[in-house]
Amino acid sequence: MYEQEFNETIGLIAKQNEWRLRTINLIASENVMSRRVRSMSGSDFVHRYAEGHPGERYYRGTNYIDEIESQLKANLKILFNCNHTEVRPISGTNANEAVFSKFVKREDVVMVNSTPSGGHISHHRLGSLGKFTQNLIDFPLTKDGYHIDIEKTKFLIKAAKPKILVLGKSLFLFPDPVQELSDLCNENRIKLIYDGAHVLGLIAGKKFQDPLREGACLITASTHKTFFGSQRGMILSNMDADGWRKIDRGAFPGSSSNHHLDTLAQLALSTCEFMEFGQQYAEDVITNAKTLAEELDRLGFDVVGKEFGFTESHQVAVNVSKCGGGEKVSRTLEINDIILNMNMLPHEPLSNHDHPDGVRIGVQEMTRCGMKKDEMIKIAALMKECIIDKKSVKDEVNRFRRDYQEIKYSFDGNAS
Ligand SMILES: Cc1ncc(COP(=O)(O)O)c(C=O)c1O
Repeated sequence: MYEQEFNETIGLIAKQNEWRLRTINLIASENVMSRRVRSMSGSDFVHRYAEGHPGERYYRGTNYIDEIESQLKANLKILFNCNHTEVRPISGTNANEAVFSKFVKREDVVMVNSTPSGGHISHHRLGSLGKFTQNLIDFPLTKDGYHIDIEKTKFLIKAAKPKILVLGKSLFLFPDPVQELSDLCNENRIKLIYDGAHVLGLIAGKKFQDPLREGACLITASTHKTFFGSQRGMILSNMDADGWRKIDRGAFPGSSSNHHLDTLAQLALSTCEFMEFGQQYAEDVITNAKTLAEELDRLGFDVVGKEFGFTESHQVAVNVSKCGGGEKVSRTLEINDIILNMNMLPHEPLSNHDHPDGVRIGVQEMTRCGMKKDEMIKIAALMKECIIDKKSVKDEVNRFRRDYQEIKYSFDGNAS
């Protein structure tokens, strides 16, 4: 009875696979795995459990994943220059939950980036953080809306006495002021947590800020936005053993039990790729983002952050209110096989969330597919033709994308 539905679902998966090879994907929170890493989906690990740590599991049959997980953790310690790594959270939200559940007590005041200024839903009253306290206050911003106002923040810290600051965000154009706030945090025993979900690959590639060196007590992250995947989460720190023991319990049994061994093995593989190619990749990503922003601006789009050089990350944000708003623009681009998301901008009220003024663009995936500055200029031209000139560009998008089917910064070319 359900075989027809089964077959139809397989058909939908095939359509997705085929369609996305024709699209220009500019979703800032996504990336693609290399062909060899992706081909490991469906290994025997996809069926298995391994609660606990390598060498001290609750299940038998874990010899090989023990070896893989230990090697992954050793590599991450090198890549991020840190003493502690937690790779069991299966998403960035799980990683945040592991930390919040142990460090945030009921009624604690926590300072976060507001949603319009780019804060993630897991930092929100309705999200993970809100399960532990509702006492959230927003970082004050500078007039442009894309930077934290350091002096006002220091004043607010003294007045409101937060226990925790959560830096890092989803709309993340410029580094957050970790160093500038860390002395005050140390003096007042405030924990400074850095959510690096979006910029993990740029940190690992040594092309963004280095939060642990600048004074953050830990980094939480997703592994699949600017990092090479698979889709998981992690926590990195140099904190003392007592503090880290809490995080360990927060990750297991706090926010995960089985930790999805197939994607863990893929993360181990893509971490090797990152160690080999990550610095060049991160540099290319940032160059591409700047190039795309400058070209969109030149072609008449209202790209935000112009006075600060538009971006220092993988992202570009555009105020498209004069083109019909983020919802309309993202739909029009989707019809033309350019995929991105609408996004609130800092000047907007929360009530705008379904019809925000902005769109957010990320260049990391197309960079991984081998696109460079010339290709960014071409993408800007396609977006102008589509949105400003109101022409169909779908065929041209599909033709253009055909030449970028290989995944670069990988060992794919070395496959036997
Ligand atoms: C700043 C930030 N933190 C956490 C997350 C959650 O990550 P995940 O989707 O892996 O749960 C996101 C996701 O976009 C994010 O932008």
